[in-house]
Amino acid sequence: MTDNLSNVLARLGETRVLPVVELDTSEAALPLARALMAGGLPVAEITFRSEAAAASIGILRERFPEMLVGAGTVLDIEQVELAYGAGSQFAVTPGFNPAVVQACVETGLPILPGINNPTGVEQAMGFGLDAVKFFPAEASGGVRFLKALSGPYPSMRFVPTGGIAPDNLGSYLALPNVLACGGSWMVSPALVRASGFDEIARLAGEAVALAARNA
Ligand code: 3PG
Repeated sequence: MTDNLSNVLARLGETRVLPVVELDTSEAALPLARALMAGGLPVAEITFRSEAAAASIGILRERFPEMLVGAGTVLDIEQVELAYGAGSQFAVTPGFNPAVVQACVETGLPILPGINNPTGVEQAMGFGLDAVKFFPAEASGGVRFLKALSGPYPSMRFVPTGGIAPDNLGSYLALPNVLACGGSWMVSPALVRASGFDEIARLAGEAVALAARNA
């Protein structure tokens, strides 16, 4: 594991929550980041579900160097290069694509590949990784899945994402093999489009408070 990757994992282990963001335009990047930081959450995964992803990552890295900014929904090598070029500090993928993981490892871009079965865990281990995204968490067995995997893979840590919200966040964060939880509940595309930044700050603060109960 590279130093960069262990630094990213250590920071996620501190924030314990990873906001998964989709931005229509890069103009929303700064107010969104301010809202997250006002709520005490200096971290964001900006997904490549929109054309604005790379520009948004670049803006955030320049303006908020204290923030941890990653690229999400990275589906191919071109997006790995775009994310890295924009200054992304890590990449997240929904599934396990060995070519994308290999490209990240070669580029030196810390990677959290998505898995939802033991095969995926072992593929990640084959690349020397000891942390993965568990996606889609709720639809793939949720807390029970993570408990079951702690037996055969005691050193693997998970970032469950997909279907997590304030009502079930605590049950995930209480698991020893959960590093942090990802989710869009505090940064939904509808809230961002409506410039609901006060509400985003409130929801981020609520997530931080919930996470503190499972520190
Ligand atoms: C992701 O890509 O990680 C998910 O879409 C986030 O899942 P959620 O919207 O259910 O939080």
